[in-house]
Amino acid sequence: MQQGRTTISKFLIEQLRGAEDQADLAALLIDVTAAVKSIASMTAKGALGGFLGSLGTENVQGETQKKLDVLSNDAMIQACEWGGLVAGMASEEMDDPYTLPKEFERGPYLLVFDPLDGSSNIDVNVSVGTIFSVLRHTKIGDPATADYLRPGVEQVAAGYAIYGPATMMVLTVGKGTHGFTLDREIGNFILTHPDLKIPEDTSEFAINASNERFWEPPVQRYVAECKAGKTGDRGRDFNMRWIASMVADVHRILMRGGIFMYPKDTKDLSKPGRLRLMYEANPIGFIVEQAGGAASTGRARIMSVPPTSLHQRVPVMLGSKNEIERLERYHREYDSGEDKPFVSPLFKDRSLYSDDARA
Ligand code: F6P
Repeated sequence: MQQGRTTISKFLIEQLRGAEDQADLAALLIDVTAAVKSIASMTAKGALGGFLGSLGTENVQGETQKKLDVLSNDAMIQACEWGGLVAGMASEEMDDPYTLPKEFERGPYLLVFDPLDGSSNIDVNVSVGTIFSVLRHTKIGDPATADYLRPGVEQVAAGYAIYGPATMMVLTVGKGTHGFTLDREIGNFILTHPDLKIPEDTSEFAINASNERFWEPPVQRYVAECKAGKTGDRGRDFNMRWIASMVADVHRILMRGGIFMYPKDTKDLSKPGRLRLMYEANPIGFIVEQAGGAASTGRARIMSVPPTSLHQRVPVMLGSKNEIERLERYHREYDSGEDKPFVSPLFKDRSLYSDDARA
């Protein structure tokens, strides 16, 4: 069934018709899809491609680099550096922004990306992804690091690719969030999920619960209430999921609702969260907001956070709007000292540990 199918190129050209620099932005996003296709092909080969395992090097975050992290970074650079569409690029895998070779024309955009998010999952054959964000470059000349440090509200496009059973790309240019599936036989992304909407309410949350003792009280309160389910304040049961690959967790939320949290914790006091603002939280925040969801640090809208460094980390809470608003309220109540002291449901009346239960 080829007829009537909308390819990603056709979709982008139509969505961006009439907008400033529209042809350039569409062309850049099409270059990104070329990189995504080559990353998809490498990840799909698994052990047969010889790409698995570590390189023995560390990125600027002190994380061990996988071979595929570096190969995916190269794929993005090679696909996007030559076309006269970007002025520079920055990524999780490079300490400093990438300066284009002299021979390439400079373009109007900055591309910021995480070439292979969740890469600790590669060796166990669990879904991974690529996340990207596009900002406008407003100055003449090669961009300095400071030129990249712009809040998420200034993004002109953002998206992610998920390398799962099917390879998909989900993106926004500020006119809704749309999903495309890679048809491997024809080598093209086809619009399969137009105008994605995250339901406002949900009974599903995602968090790495092994960090519970390090979370702030408002997050402990929220999660404890979800876990107490029908027997607690929320009066209904919740389900929990954690893939440990942000793209895969976010993709589930776009498909059926839910919330994702990687809050601030006290495990390592030098880090105000785990996820990176510029190439994880901002682009995913843009996608989620364009799908009717919310993206917050718990205390502020993610896309309003002023970046102070390229690899800055932030607390992240995103997904179904009403649950994110509840989390923000819990943070407000905690900060103002309004909330009642948090009591674990295990110790409430009618719990296993109450006098009634023990009698
Ligand atoms: O980039 C960070 C990341 O890999 C995310 O994709 C994922 O959500 C998170 O880290 C997993 O963290 P943890 O290892 O604590 O479960």
